[in-house]
Amino acid sequence: MFENDLDKQNEYYSKRASEYEQIYYRDNKERRQEIEDDVERLKVLAKGKSVLELACGTGYWTTQVSETALSVIATDFSDEMIVEAKKKEYHCPIQFMQADLHHLPFAEPSCDLLLLGFWFSHEPCQDYEKLFKTLLGQIKTHGKIWMIDNNPPAEGDKFQAVGKDAHGNNYKRRFLDDDTEYKILKNYFSKESLREIFEPYFEIESLIHNKYYWSTVLSAKR
Ligand SMILES: C[S@@+](CC[C@H](N)C(=O)[O-])C[C@H]1O[C@@H](n2cnc3c(N)ncnc32)[C@H](O)[C@@H]1O
Repeated sequence: MFENDLDKQNEYYSKRASEYEQIYYRDNKERRQEIEDDVERLKVLAKGKSVLELACGTGYWTTQVSETALSVIATDFSDEMIVEAKKKEYHCPIQFMQADLHHLPFAEPSCDLLLLGFWFSHEPCQDYEKLFKTLLGQIKTHGKIWMIDNNPPAEGDKFQAVGKDAHGNNYKRRFLDDDTEYKILKNYFSKESLREIFEPYFEIESLIHNKYYWSTVLSAKR
């Protein structure tokens, strides 16, 4: 039985910072096209908006939204990720901040659009309610939340899957370029299960579930 080791997970992301963006440039046109389609949709969504990004990583989405957003605050737990993100070019006022998404420093709703890329699959399922309350607490009235994440690999997960914890979260093997091995919490979702998870807390404005990725736009329940 596994347990979510947050220290190990943080170590994994910090060590992976300089190699992380390889995930966006795998040699597969269909996969790449899905990402590009999401980039275009996100740029439209962000137009003229004040954006708060949680777990921004190397700033892949940050730089894209900066092309249309009014301003961006981009946060991540890992200083190493923020160092990588700061190397990019931005096209609107931008502020980077080290912050744990579960303990954010903002006293009031601060954004029109909140971004959370490739994080939801790492959130323990027993903590969804807490996470959703945090996200809703950050957006202004009529604000929106955008998320993107992975669908299960078409070839299956059997070589990487290592087991489940007592709550039913999946764990899989991940390797750094130097072959250091980590076991990381990673959950996958059908479109129906995402609907079931989000519907009690949010209006689902869109939910796209493609071959490689799913993405959604959520807002507060009216
Ligand atoms: C899978 S990466 C996603 C990065 C980026 N959002 C993207 O889509 O490319 C997960 C990110 O979450 C960050 N992270 C891990 N735990 C966190 C926490 N408690 N609060 C904020 N960020 C965290 C990691 O440092 C890493 O940058």
